[in-house]
Amino acid sequence: MKRNLLSFFKFIVFFVSSLIINNVIGENSHHLHEYFLCRKCGREIVELSNLKNVPSSVALRQRNETLGHKEEVLVQLFKNPQNVFYEVITATQANVFRASQETGGDTWWPGFNWIILGCPQCRQHIGWEYIPQSKNTDEESFLGLVLGNLLYENADELIVLPKSYKS
Ligand SMILES: *[C@@H]1O[C@H](CO)[C@@H](O)[C@H](O)[C@H]1NC(C)=O
Ligand SMILES: [Zn+2]
Repeated sequence: MKRNLLSFFKFIVFFVSSLIINNVIGENSHHLHEYFLCRKCGREIVELSNLKNVPSSVALRQRNETLGHKEEVLVQLFKNPQNVFYEVITATQANVFRASQETGGDTWWPGFNWIILGCPQCRQHIGWEYIPQSKNTDEESFLGLVLGNLLYENADELIVLPKSYKS
């Protein structure tokens, strides 16, 4: 009887510690799977780990901001020829579809052409892909995403995987 009770307690201790271990692992990995969403339809657009600051020499204003769980995201202000202002963040890749041909001129990153990007689900304008004009360059393509068209506040609600590991 005593022995049974002891194994029972051992089991409980094992069970509780594996719960704790699972939680710790979840805490460490969940930011990797966190996305900013399409503000219009909620589709996952860009994973936080794919954000990468690409400063532009022609930005009207620049600031570093913590967005969701990502610190020091470079937010840059631009104006298009129609006098519309955009706050833009940059990333290496995202879930988007190409909505135009590659275009030069009026570019916010000199030396780069651009392609208009939309949300793959609702087609809302999401930003632009920037492609080096010269093929003989080390520069790589990147994405400029319109901050106002993304949902990034209340980051605890935006965790996609695994949902159960909130602290
Ligand atoms: C943003 O942070 C980076 C890295 O700390 C720094 O080099 C850069 O000057 C900052 N930019 C602005 C606009 O504060
Ligand atoms: Zn959408």
